[in-house]
Amino acid sequence: MFSLQNKKAVVTGGGSGIGRAIATLFAKKGAELHIIDLSIESAQETVDEIQKTGGKVFSYACDVANQKEVIATFEKIGNIHILVNNAGIAHVGNVENTMEADFDRVMNINVKGVYNCLHAAIPKLRHAEGGVIVNMASIAAWVGIPDRFAYSTAKGAVMAMTLSVAKDFMSENIRCNSISPARVHTPFVDGFITKNYPGKEAEMFEKLSKSQPIGRMGKPDEVAALALYLCSDEAGFITGCDYPIDGGFIKLNN
Ligand SMILES: NC(=O)c1ccc[n+]([C@@H]2O[C@H](COP(=O)([O-])OP(=O)(O)OC[C@H]3O[C@@H](n4cnc5c(N)ncnc54)[C@H](O)[C@@H]3O)[C@@H](O)[C@H]2O)c1
Repeated sequence: MFSLQNKKAVVTGGGSGIGRAIATLFAKKGAELHIIDLSIESAQETVDEIQKTGGKVFSYACDVANQKEVIATFEKIGNIHILVNNAGIAHVGNVENTMEADFDRVMNINVKGVYNCLHAAIPKLRHAEGGVIVNMASIAAWVGIPDRFAYSTAKGAVMAMTLSVAKDFMSENIRCNSISPARVHTPFVDGFITKNYPGKEAEMFEKLSKSQPIGRMGKPDEVAALALYLCSDEAGFITGCDYPIDGGFIKLNN
């Protein structure tokens, strides 16, 4: 079950955290991997990891916020079966203290970046066998989280884009779903703790772990396993859905 043999997959932000876990798992399941990342050094580390196990993998330095770069990258890659829109950045702030430049930066990467990749990938997914897309949303699209104004706005847009694409391309055999993780322990989480809570890192780590009723953060491999299922032929009846993977965060936090 869940074989990706003979499938070609693109993972954005595949150089770190959740994207790296998805890329390495998909390669283990037989897919040819194409990793898009702003940081070619990080992407290369994922490439090295996949090559150690004999996987076929390519990497591309590309800013998902830049449409020209994205289109040129997808032209190089050619037809694909799977797109995982995972690249994203964090931001902490409420509507009052979120500055325009920060709001624009989050929208450019977390919203326009997803649009750019969808826009470039649809013609590459539109071939006989059809295709599948997974977008990385967040529990921030489901519930009010303190100080996540721009980030929540962006992830709400990712969920809405998922529905729009699922509807428009269903007749062309393209499925589109999203995943909404709660906190997952990756450099993304470590980075924003260091940046926003200097001197209180251990305390914040503990607090963020406990905010999942299950008592810990998720693991990138756990998100990768869900992405594998959604991208596999076994999930052929699933489109236009969002899947929380959240240790009970959305429904059990009271
Ligand atoms: N970690 C969490 O707790 C968590 C929770 C919910 C949702 N998410 C979402 O999951 C996704 C991955 O998160 P992560 O924790 O693995 O992050 P991460 O920071 O570990 O990795 C993100 C990767 O995306 C790349 N990237 C950033 N901006 C880019 C750009 N403009 N163009 C191309 N690549 C770019 C980075 O270089 C990095 O390799 C993000 O969309 C994030 O919003 C994460």
